Amino acid sequence: MIETYIYNSKNTFIEAQKRAPLFEALRDYIKRDMVAYHTPGHKQGKGVDKEMLELLGENVFKIDLTEIPEVDNLHDPDGVIKEAQELTALLYGSDKSFFLVNGSTTGNNVMIMTVCDPGDKIIIPRNIHKSVLGGIILSGAIPIYVPALWDNDLGIYHGIDIDKLEEALINNPDAKGVLLVNPTYYGISLDLKKVIDLIHKYNRPALIDEAHGPHFHFHEDLPISALKAGADMVVQSTHKILSSMTQSSILHLKEGRVNTKRAKNILQLIQSTSPSYVLMASLDVARRQMALHGRELLERTLQLAEDARKRLNKINGIYCFGKEICGSYGVFDIDITKLVINVSKLGISGFHALDILDRKYNIQSEMATLYNVLELVTIGNDKEDLDRLVNAIECISKDETLEKDLRVNSKAPPVPSIPKSTMSPREAFFSTTEKVPFYSSIGRICAEIISPYPPGIPILAPGEIINEEIVDYLQLIYEHGAFINGPEDIRLQTIKVVRE
Ligand SMILES: Cc1ncc(COP(=O)(O)O)c(C=O)c1O
Repeated sequence: MIETYIYNSKNTFIEAQKRAPLFEALRDYIKRDMVAYHTPGHKQGKGVDKEMLELLGENVFKIDLTEIPEVDNLHDPDGVIKEAQELTALLYGSDKSFFLVNGSTTGNNVMIMTVCDPGDKIIIPRNIHKSVLGGIILSGAIPIYVPALWDNDLGIYHGIDIDKLEEALINNPDAKGVLLVNPTYYGISLDLKKVIDLIHKYNRPALIDEAHGPHFHFHEDLPISALKAGADMVVQSTHKILSSMTQSSILHLKEGRVNTKRAKNILQLIQSTSPSYVLMASLDVARRQMALHGRELLERTLQLAEDARKRLNKINGIYCFGKEICGSYGVFDIDITKLVINVSKLGISGFHALDILDRKYNIQSEMATLYNVLELVTIGNDKEDLDRLVNAIECISKDETLEKDLRVNSKAPPVPSIPKSTMSPREAFFSTTEKVPFYSSIGRICAEIISPYPPGIPILAPGEIINEEIVDYLQLIYEHGAFINGPEDIRLQTIKVVRE
């Protein structure tokens, strides 16, 4: 038990965090030159395609092992994985931390399934990631939506209005919990402590999708982390912002308001029985790296991002918001490592800017909206990366040959209100469905998720009744070039509805 190791020995916290038990066990194991009669079939790389082996090197295959005794078992850990998870919990201040090998998607699914039985209510914002809706479908929970705040100037959604959250808590005393996204994709953070205190005042667990905030814990100039703010369950995409490999995330849990055993059982139900040791080892060393060097790495990252922000804001037609927006509508704090570069004054869309950065300047952005292109600055970026970005944006700003995009200046129609629903998302999702022409779908129950971009939040979810306002809105924004995410027919000529 690592707790015993840490507290009953003379080792300090830092001494303990210098270890990477899973990584070390894998490293030591592969020195033994074992003969493998177990999965995976490539047998530590010996059977793998030669070109792949040459590209990746042999060690990644050597540590791609299965649950042999030396490297423990994710689902019932009692050795090095247990220690690695306990070191993670100790670092972040949770009671339990679980390694996830299918990203925060799994974490969101597990959080909802831990607190909700089929038919239970859960309060969520409308600007959820689709994995939250996935958790709602899997659990059979009933979502009670709190509208997300739309920022017309920046052209992005923020969090929620705390008064509306309280209203939902009062009106739904039977809701089993509240799940919030904090920070948003763009780094906007709520007054999380206040929000979580409010949720706890109504004696509900606070579940936080902190996919974009695993670094908050390590620097005081970043928004408060969900665990520090008192959250009961938190999911973090370690792979998105820190240095672990894609798909590796962490689920943290504080005991008291949520049932740890149930969370563990659900994890066993929905995670692979063959979790990747490469991913888990990468989580182990990412934790060690942040424990030992997190503050200094982030200090450098924050400086790089802030310096780039200043330079970007000197470019004609460019606006990259910073701390000055804190205190304005829906914004309590921001993560300054995110550069949300608003290009609308250049008369081009964020989508177009992303495309030019990619094709002309070899700069791959995270994503774009109609007005903005989003760049994530992490501990993996260096000054040269940011110089290239700033220089490229400067060149784009001076390019008079770029075709103007009329959508950027036209006023976006207001997003319709959240429609009524008559079925749970789960019932609608698993019901017998049919496709009908979109224009004649009014009054029918939607059986898929319709999430146009922009604005980037679901306009329709399974179980919701399609109304005239929504049909008109979706047709209008489609004609204005929005991408429709979610439905089988992305041109939205037809829509999947529940068969009557
Ligand atoms: C807010 C939010 N939550 C959850 C997820 C899912 O995370 P993952 O990709 O780690 O499964 C994402 C992914 O983009 C996200 O943006």
